[in-house]
Amino acid sequence: MSTPVNRGQWSSRFGFVLAAAGSAIGLGNIWRFPYTAGQNGGGAFVLVYLIFVALIGIPVLLSELSVGRATRLNPVGAYRKLAPGTAWPWLGAIGVACGFGILSFYSVIAGWTLGYGYYAIQGRFSGDFDAAASNEVFTNLVSGPMVPVALCAVFLLLTALVVRGGVSSGIERAAKILMPIFFVLLLFMAIRSVTLDGASAGLEFFFHVDFSKLIEDPSVIGSALGQALFSLSLGMGAMITYGSYLPKEENVPVSAVSVALFDTTIAILAGLIIFPALFHAGVDPQVGPGLVFVAMPSIFGALPAGTLFGIVFYILLAIAALTSTISLLEVIVSYFVDNRGWTREKAVWIVTLISFVLAVPSALAFGASSFFTNLPGGGFLGLMDLIFGKYGLTIGAFGICVFVGWFWGVPKALAEIESSGHRLPAAAAWGFLVRWVCPVAVLIIFALVVAGRANW
Ligand code: TRP
Repeated sequence: MSTPVNRGQWSSRFGFVLAAAGSAIGLGNIWRFPYTAGQNGGGAFVLVYLIFVALIGIPVLLSELSVGRATRLNPVGAYRKLAPGTAWPWLGAIGVACGFGILSFYSVIAGWTLGYGYYAIQGRFSGDFDAAASNEVFTNLVSGPMVPVALCAVFLLLTALVVRGGVSSGIERAAKILMPIFFVLLLFMAIRSVTLDGASAGLEFFFHVDFSKLIEDPSVIGSALGQALFSLSLGMGAMITYGSYLPKEENVPVSAVSVALFDTTIAILAGLIIFPALFHAGVDPQVGPGLVFVAMPSIFGALPAGTLFGIVFYILLAIAALTSTISLLEVIVSYFVDNRGWTREKAVWIVTLISFVLAVPSALAFGASSFFTNLPGGGFLGLMDLIFGKYGLTIGAFGICVFVGWFWGVPKALAEIESSGHRLPAAAAWGFLVRWVCPVAVLIIFALVVAGRANW
């Protein structure tokens, strides 16, 4: 293992928070959160989600950041340094594998956002653009075969170009430019959406908590927890990696809470954009994963200034996805740089190429190849999501809790978190959550995933 010299670090806390929030905020917030909330009963799901972010998400985030900052290494190197001669580094290796798996399918969906951005610029979503037309556009785009593969390649290339620039001049600089643009665009869209006719029905669906929904279907709870982990980029060591670039003097508790607040705010803003627009246009909120691709365009057609609305929306989605794919790639690249002694340049291009090869079957899994489309578990992309996004992340999240709570130990992790002199408020509660509540909760979602009862 090489010593962590010249790995680079964030130039400021603000830079770290924007980069980590950039990782957390992504398709998970704008594509997945609204359709998952839609399918899981609206307000009840949203409430449980918020509780899980606070009680599970923030404690796990602090755990990952403490391991990263203590070791200044990628997940494999970090576990190896803190637990030499044990099997713990394998947990880091699962994280790196999840990086490849998630990056590959995520960039396929991210590629579609580029396609939609282009359609929006062409003005295709204006006038009498109805749901049937919208479905046709979606099916034509995703069934490719050339276009989805090419769009995914473009997306991976953009990701590689940023990661190649390194931590502060690549990732941090990109986040500092992209995240504020993103936030302003979202606010503008949310204001537009909540002032539409019929918006109040959408707000009612999104915020009204109907507890009977939780009792009727416990999978709502599992889905909310899974979504909280995915949305905060937890469970594969992305936050170990980002924490490894945190300067020693930074205030970790405040950084972690800021990232979680930022991520949650964006998910709620996405809901404020999508639900009023859905109810305005009379679209069923339960349409599922096609929501932002199939349902939103027909809504743009029905909106005043719909073309502009559409262009802004898909640019947003692409920006959000880019700052997330950057973090997925960075986890893998940091492993090859720290542990294998590769140069950043070499690691970036080789890893991007492998990810692209892995992404091709996912890109072909929407009609272009009947084999990849019809694989059990929702086609190749669904299968990748199940293996890496659901099994992989829950195993990784369970592992980091056991590691920090029981193996490395809460006192050492706490000492690391507080080493800059900034106290962790409610430190005893954090220890209890990490040792008991988080691992048990994550085991429960793991069981729900095995039983096919968690849909996030
Ligand atoms: N959190 C991102 C989103 O919401 C996706 C993501 C990026 C991610 N890096 C991750 C998820 C690491 C899990 C682990 O879209």
